[in-house]
Amino acid sequence: MTTRYRVEYALKTHRRDQLIEWIKGLLAVPFVLHSQPTVIYQEHSEGLKRVAADTHQRYAEIMRDVENLINDHSKSHVARRRQHPLRLPLITPQFYITNEMTRLYLEDAFNYQDEQRFISRRRFVAPSFNDIRLILNSAQLLGLVRSSEVDLVTFDGDVTLYDDGACLTPANPVIPRILRLLEQGRKVGIVTAAGYEEAPKYYGRLYGLLDAVHDSKKLTPSQKEGIIVMGGESNFLFRFDQESESRLAYVSRKEWLLEEMRAWHDDDIKQLLDIAEDSLRACASNLGLPAAVLRKDRAVGVYPVNGVRIDRELLEETVLVVQNTVERSAVGSRLPFCAFNGGNDVFVDIGDKSWGVRVCQEYFGGIDPSKTLHIGDQFLSAGANDFKARLASTTAWIASPAETVELLDELEAAINK
Ligand code: IMP
Ligand code: MG
Repeated sequence: MTTRYRVEYALKTHRRDQLIEWIKGLLAVPFVLHSQPTVIYQEHSEGLKRVAADTHQRYAEIMRDVENLINDHSKSHVARRRQHPLRLPLITPQFYITNEMTRLYLEDAFNYQDEQRFISRRRFVAPSFNDIRLILNSAQLLGLVRSSEVDLVTFDGDVTLYDDGACLTPANPVIPRILRLLEQGRKVGIVTAAGYEEAPKYYGRLYGLLDAVHDSKKLTPSQKEGIIVMGGESNFLFRFDQESESRLAYVSRKEWLLEEMRAWHDDDIKQLLDIAEDSLRACASNLGLPAAVLRKDRAVGVYPVNGVRIDRELLEETVLVVQNTVERSAVGSRLPFCAFNGGNDVFVDIGDKSWGVRVCQEYFGGIDPSKTLHIGDQFLSAGANDFKARLASTTAWIASPAETVELLDELEAAINK
């Protein structure tokens, strides 16, 4: 039976970010009380400037209070085990903050984004989801550079580095930014769900970047080795190889598997994928998906035949059905997996990006989560695959490849400051 609770849960908890929604609600109050949309001002008038300054101050105060509350929450993390009541979960019981790795400088981030986006000058459009998502990103970058360092940046592929299903071509403006990270001695991981076992397939997707690293005269050989590709979320690792035509070399699992991953037995992997495949086939048939099933060694998915678009609702339904089905199985409680909506396909992968990011950290000698930034586009709590990276690193939530470029510029500016 579909209860009201389940519908609410699926619609609200999975489709919305509770922290962003909560902050949006807090900012809506001064927006309503101070932005005075019905007062007729000349757009250049002193009156309008005064209203904007007043609104800015109210927004900034709220962001400072939220910052203090989150800080308090993080500090009480240890106290939680001693049964101290926590203010944040009591005030906002529906969300939890996974990022206890660095401080979030929300007030400063708001001041920065307000200059970029004129949030407090707006009288008709309230602070939006995107405003707050970008403020949180800025706050995270400030936290990284002020209270820690950035030693490793991991990138999702589709939508983060290039458009969905496209390739990283030589003209992509992200390339000089990534080269710069490597020149500064930072490490870079591409942590993508795209799961191939052969290096040439990744070269086909990433050739613009890999050729640029290969051809670079500025990068030393050891800086070039600072880029790796982790495919299939956490299943196939490739290191940079200057001599190889595909610029990449496969790294065998025994060289990088984390201790816990050694318990992922082949028969469990097969059993989990069998359950997921049955469930995907049932969805394809019940929902009339114009899709074929693709079974791989470490993943199973449905993808559209002849490039037709599958309705978002059907993709989401499929993700939630298969996720529920696998979660309820015995093997699903032993083995980590990730079911997600890839935009026009649904995949179930063994492992998830938290493991992918951890492997990158270990590969580079044990980089701390507080010195790692994962940049991705999929951060809703269900049906999204970058979400799990929050367990292993700080994160930034972008909505397009252009935003990734802006974020890297913002990071560079924050580091230089
Ligand atoms: P990401 O955004 O870089 O994580 O890539 C996600 C996309 O990779 C999915 O939407 C799929 O279209 C594609 N893909 C190709 N192979 C796989 C696989 O084995 N597992 C999951 N996704 C895959
Ligand atoms: Mg993506």
